[in-house]
Amino acid sequence: MASPRKPRIRRIAITTGGGDAPGLNAVIRAVVMAAQRQDWECVGIRSGYDGLLSSSPRSGLVPLTPERVRGITNLGGTILGTTNAGNPLHYPTRLASGRLVERDRTREVVQALKRERVDARVAIGGDGSLGIAHALSKTGLRGVGVPTTIDNDLDRTVSTFGFESAVSFATECIDRLHTTAESHRRIMVVEVMGRYAGWIALNSGVSGDAHCILIPEIAYDIRKVAAALREREQSGASYSIVVVAEGAKPRGGRHSVVEKKIGAAERLGGVGAHVAAELASLTGKETRHVVLGHLLRGGSPTTFDRLLSLRFGAAAVRGLAEGRSGVMVALNPPAVAYVPLATATRRMKRVPRSSDTVRTARDLGICLGD
Ligand code: F6P
Repeated sequence: MASPRKPRIRRIAITTGGGDAPGLNAVIRAVVMAAQRQDWECVGIRSGYDGLLSSSPRSGLVPLTPERVRGITNLGGTILGTTNAGNPLHYPTRLASGRLVERDRTREVVQALKRERVDARVAIGGDGSLGIAHALSKTGLRGVGVPTTIDNDLDRTVSTFGFESAVSFATECIDRLHTTAESHRRIMVVEVMGRYAGWIALNSGVSGDAHCILIPEIAYDIRKVAAALREREQSGASYSIVVVAEGAKPRGGRHSVVEKKIGAAERLGGVGAHVAAELASLTGKETRHVVLGHLLRGGSPTTFDRLLSLRFGAAAVRGLAEGRSGVMVALNPPAVAYVPLATATRRMKRVPRSSDTVRTARDLGICLGD
């Protein structure tokens, strides 16, 4: 196959979009350091694409130099800021009538990037941000995507960065809940993020020795969960830990939604409280619930996530230098590969019901609610 034509690049822009995840700053650092070796200037767009579309004091571009990105590899969050309510393809816009609607503002983004003499982009984000990256690439603007999300729900990469950090923290929280649950002879229900995929719940639940794990991919029957917990009690166990993915749904029912705003994805949540109330009434046991929520997105990236982020950032620059565009860097062990954005954003990566980790959970006697 002919190698891609090498472009003339002088200036690149970096964006971080969607929910933040540990490792974003490590990617930014790797991109800036690797770009300097190519003699490219780097700028960061503030707050996703809001930096180009809104005129708030937090908008605009920030010059990114090696000095600016010194010492940030281990920092959580993103020095550029982010938003998950500023997707240019569905930008929330208030009409004169006061009504809020979604508008496609991609053209304005393209024009702004041209005005700013940006020759290529590195877009770091989840499915929403990579969808935007794909749309911008189709206009002819060069760009490479970098997959991040604690949810690990992006297809065509074995892992996104941020996922391992979230799972490690969730596991530590579950470990801590064992002792208090046992002391009080309670059922503890732990709700974790993950949107419509159960990766965080499954991996932290199995690693943290949970007794029941409910994930969106396996609809649960609360009576079966209660029966499994009662059986535990009969065999002498005084407490139980139930891990629930925020997107878990009862058989024949839907996932719990907190809100849906124009220009933003629906916010999930509430299933943990619901499951806890049902289990309390079905088992008669004292039950508490805890929502780990945004705690899973904070803190420093684990070593695995740091290294993955640095590898992804450096590979994004190498890809651009080799003339690649419209691709996403992806972990395909042992290598970092490039996959077309078109295929990476086509479908969500969910937990296969027959996966090894699901089978491991069953082999360990963990109830999956079915
Ligand atoms: O996609 C990452 C994520 O943390 C999801 O797990 C969660 O549903 C969502 O973002 C929460 O978003 P927000 O920051 O808008 O509450």
